[in-house]
Amino acid sequence: NSKSMKLDLPKLIGHRGLAGVAPENTMPAFEAAARHGLRFVELDAKLCASGELIVLHDNDVKRTSTGRGRAQAMSWAQLKKLDAGSWFDPAFRGTRIPRLIEVLDFCRAKGVGVNIELKPNRGDYVQTARAVATLLQQEKLVGQLPLFISSFSIQSLRAARDCMPELPRGLLMERRTTLRHILERTQELGTCTFNYDRKLISAERVQQLNARGIPTLIWTVNDANEARKLLAMGVSSIFSDFPLKL
Ligand code: G3P
Ligand code: MG
Repeated sequence: NSKSMKLDLPKLIGHRGLAGVAPENTMPAFEAAARHGLRFVELDAKLCASGELIVLHDNDVKRTSTGRGRAQAMSWAQLKKLDAGSWFDPAFRGTRIPRLIEVLDFCRAKGVGVNIELKPNRGDYVQTARAVATLLQQEKLVGQLPLFISSFSIQSLRAARDCMPELPRGLLMERRTTLRHILERTQELGTCTFNYDRKLISAERVQQLNARGIPTLIWTVNDANEARKLLAMGVSSIFSDFPLKL
């Protein structure tokens, strides 16, 4: 328990796998991350209509595949037929949307840690967290690779706290907010990091949170100077599409 709870995040985390060099949230992106020696990757997990957890950022498959429609309304049998690679580069034609278990199996084999961002479809907030907990349990993955759960959804974080309390959690926020609000949420949800947008963070906020033992993680930073500045400010980790450039 205490072993899996301990969070040892590197300064650079591959965003959506390694979204700068391969189609985001697909196996080639995770393979690239492992090949380039990244210690940790972030991904977005959600449920599809037939109950499998898949790795996909948007609600709709349109931007990152040849299909269209909401993943929530599509079965795994339908989703796995889509080409999720050629939108990025024709060289990746035939790449599929992966199931979460495929990515976790791969990362376990490679010793890469995974930040599972719970990115629930509308209404699936609690179910998504429960499905992740069930999967991790069934596949006996806890303790097998570094795992870190995060979400913008308060309901998902609450469910994660209740059904997989042993896993460290990060609080994602997408709006400008007060220190008090962050601290209240952190306490209520038992989160151990504050994950924030590069456009919203300030040095003052990083310092205030550091003083309270709450590391700040910032996305999505693809510029080396900016990364350097943020780390000098006291930011703990950076999510990047191009960590190698950094
Ligand atoms: O988890 C960090 C970052 O991925 C959050 O934003 O939209 O890229 O999932 P988004
Ligand atoms: Mg994400």
